[in-house]
Amino acid sequence: MTSLRRKLLFRLLTPLLPLLLLGVAAAFYMANHFANLAFDRSLFRAALALADQVEVVGGQVVVDLPQAAFDMLEYDKDDWIYYRVTGANGEFVTGYTELPAPPVAKPIPGQHYYYTANYDGKDISVVAFYLSLKGTSANGVAIIQVGETTSKRQRMVTEIILGMVLPQLLMVMIAALMVWRGVGRGLTPLDALREQITSRSHRDLAPLNLNDAPREVQPMVEAMNDLMARLEQVLAQQQRFVADASHQLRTPLAGLKTQAEIALREQQDPEQVKHALQHILASSDNLSHLITQLLTLARIEPEAADTLQLSVLDLDPLAREVTGGWVPAALAKQIDLGFESETGPNTVLGDGVLLRELLSNLIDNAIRYTQAGGSVTVTLRSEMQEVLLCVEDNGPGIPEEKRERVFERFYRILGTGEEGCGLGLAIVREIASRHQATVTLEAGAEGRGVRMCVRFARCAASEPAAPAVD
Ligand SMILES: Nc1ncnc2c1ncn2[C@@H]1O[C@H](COP(=O)(O)OP(=O)(O)OP(=O)(O)O)[C@@H](O)[C@H]1O
Ligand SMILES: [Mg+2]
Repeated sequence: MTSLRRKLLFRLLTPLLPLLLLGVAAAFYMANHFANLAFDRSLFRAALALADQVEVVGGQVVVDLPQAAFDMLEYDKDDWIYYRVTGANGEFVTGYTELPAPPVAKPIPGQHYYYTANYDGKDISVVAFYLSLKGTSANGVAIIQVGETTSKRQRMVTEIILGMVLPQLLMVMIAALMVWRGVGRGLTPLDALREQITSRSHRDLAPLNLNDAPREVQPMVEAMNDLMARLEQVLAQQQRFVADASHQLRTPLAGLKTQAEIALREQQDPEQVKHALQHILASSDNLSHLITQLLTLARIEPEAADTLQLSVLDLDPLAREVTGGWVPAALAKQIDLGFESETGPNTVLGDGVLLRELLSNLIDNAIRYTQAGGSVTVTLRSEMQEVLLCVEDNGPGIPEEKRERVFERFYRILGTGEEGCGLGLAIVREIASRHQATVTLEAGAEGRGVRMCVRFARCAASEPAAPAVD
């Protein structure tokens, strides 16, 4: 689980790290520079003091320094000090014979040079002073070198670096702490929001208060409010559906009960009993039809649609078979039921059982609501990338203002004299939408009757079956 706080801390502190490293590098450079500057100068002062004692006697360079002064020169509690005086002709005068010579090709008299070298296995810093002997009997230059090991310098460098870096490190740590606490405090409005949500009842789908949320979180709260509004709508729809369904179930059940009671009461009169039993039969038929329709609807609810297995299938044999199944019902009503299919690949991605259900509902309506002697035609044809499945009749038609409403659940047009529960077209529309198909309702040929068409996307027979979509 990602923590916003940790993420922010990471994002804010990561750029500080290179800065800190840069600070360390700068501190290192500065410390070295200033430590060398200070100690080099004191070396140079020692060289000058030594130079003061240089004399030329009879063309020879000599250093007239009492032993105590030499001891003073060499004394240092931290470092080893080395010196050497070289005469005008390069001859050794006094000091340490092996002290490395300065790497200067053409020295200028009166100048001094700093350099580092290795002496006796130790790193040393050295100054070489070129003392002009002009005007003396020796002429040329004497070289006065004074060197020392680097302990003092290194200690000073370490001290300077620590002095500079430690406060920086401390600042970064304090900044991290402040960011950590600041972010925590900044996120408290989210706690308030969580409180708002957790303290609610599961029935309360009223929108969350936007004013409680920080501006950055408002889009999320808006999206949640939007989701809750949709949820509320769906819940209300479902509640209405359950209420309608139980009402629809209750009526035929009450009818069954009454008729059974009549049959029992009128046992002596066979005519009455027969009449009641006929009613019971009709009510049972209605009830069983209603239950079938309800179960179909439940099966194609979007929530259940995840289990739909769509496969590539040819609508031609399917539609032909379903239409054939309705021939007896059509004959009983002297309706001319026909099937026309254009050759061509009429393959779609679908669920065979549901598509049969869809077409059955359309043919059922066409036969049921068309007057005896009428005609009903089922047609199947390809159009560009689509397959069109239509059922057309020459019955009374559906008034234009009711063409949208007939798709609603339990909506029926009164006065048709036919039984039904008002779910057929709702089922048709649901099945179509599970197949990404559209349903259109218009008047039939010559403005008479109804033409219901379902438009599917054509699918090449070789295409693999796609997962169900809701
Ligand atoms: N082909 C049609 N011609 C005339 N009216 C139709 C036709 N198809 C549907 N209708 C009208 O639309 C209404 C809704 O149809 P739908 O199929 O949804 O319900 P139903 O037929 O009443 O019940 P169910 O199909 O669930 O048994 C019907 O009651 C009917 O009035
Ligand atoms: Mg119907």
